[in-house]
Amino acid sequence: MSDSLSDLSSKSIQEISECSNLKELELLRVKYLGKKGAITKQLKALGKLTPSERPKAGQKINILKEKVQSLIDARKIVLADASIQEKIESSSIDVTLSGRKNNRGNIHPISSILYEIESIFHNSGFRVEDGPEIEDEYHNFTALNIPENHPARAMHDTFYFNANYLLRTHTSPIQIRSMETHGVPIKVIAPGKVYRRDSDITHTPMFHQIEGLVIDKDINFTHLKGMLHQFINTFYKRDMELRFRPSYFPFTEPSAEVDILSKDGSWLEILGCGMVHPKVLENLKIDPEVYTGYAFGMGVERLAMLRHEIKDIRLFYENDLHFLNQFK
Ligand code: DAH
Repeated sequence: MSDSLSDLSSKSIQEISECSNLKELELLRVKYLGKKGAITKQLKALGKLTPSERPKAGQKINILKEKVQSLIDARKIVLADASIQEKIESSSIDVTLSGRKNNRGNIHPISSILYEIESIFHNSGFRVEDGPEIEDEYHNFTALNIPENHPARAMHDTFYFNANYLLRTHTSPIQIRSMETHGVPIKVIAPGKVYRRDSDITHTPMFHQIEGLVIDKDINFTHLKGMLHQFINTFYKRDMELRFRPSYFPFTEPSAEVDILSKDGSWLEILGCGMVHPKVLENLKIDPEVYTGYAFGMGVERLAMLRHEIKDIRLFYENDLHFLNQFK
């Protein structure tokens, strides 16, 4: 019996010290000190000893029992600490890790070109005006010297709401609205969306124009030429060659279309312009003998396509991030 007790002692001490988690430790407690545990069994077996052997044997077993109990208690503290430590390590935040990336958006290439053009004209003393996209027939056509049944109306593939209201086909009606509001002299530009029933690689049903209007005493065609040349050079940041081609617009006389010489040697049309037609001024009760002026309207997508060498205008409106991210 004494032998088996010392075996039990060394075995239990070793097992408790090697035990690596609280669950295992509880199993060891049951194994040695539980109701059917090895040490408990030894105590129960005391009855089989002679009365003279009993006290000494009982004392030994009780010493072992207390020892095992205190080893288990001590081990429990160590393992509980370790498990807390492990929990802290596994759930804590590592502040040295690099953060998640947030994708930054950017201004749409057309908007950014609009802002840029606005600022160039703003620096030359132009006021920036706005007008409605749902326009009436008078401002979009009639006041601009395009009366009903005039063939020039057919030049615009108009989206009509009814006989009187439509989606503006150009920014030119803002010329009329600006003069109605501010009178003359006037020096404005008006950027905005315009709409036409047209769609292919160089046309989208919605696109952008910037309208310009300058009315004062003694304004002539050279002022228009000089201003446009200066604008184009500033916009493209180099000395550009311009070509003024005679053209026809009902609201200007004379009228011209302006081409720029592109890097590959071809002429590309970028805007229409001219001296404001006397009839337009008369429609606004402005005396064309006293006031003269020039106007122009340019296609913003055109300028953007030339600047970025883009061949298909529809790319601007497909919202493809591969395309848009190039303009960051
Ligand atoms: N509104 C014309 C268009 O959309 C462009 C234009 C031509 C505007 C001549 C003007 C101008 O102000 O003077 O085709």
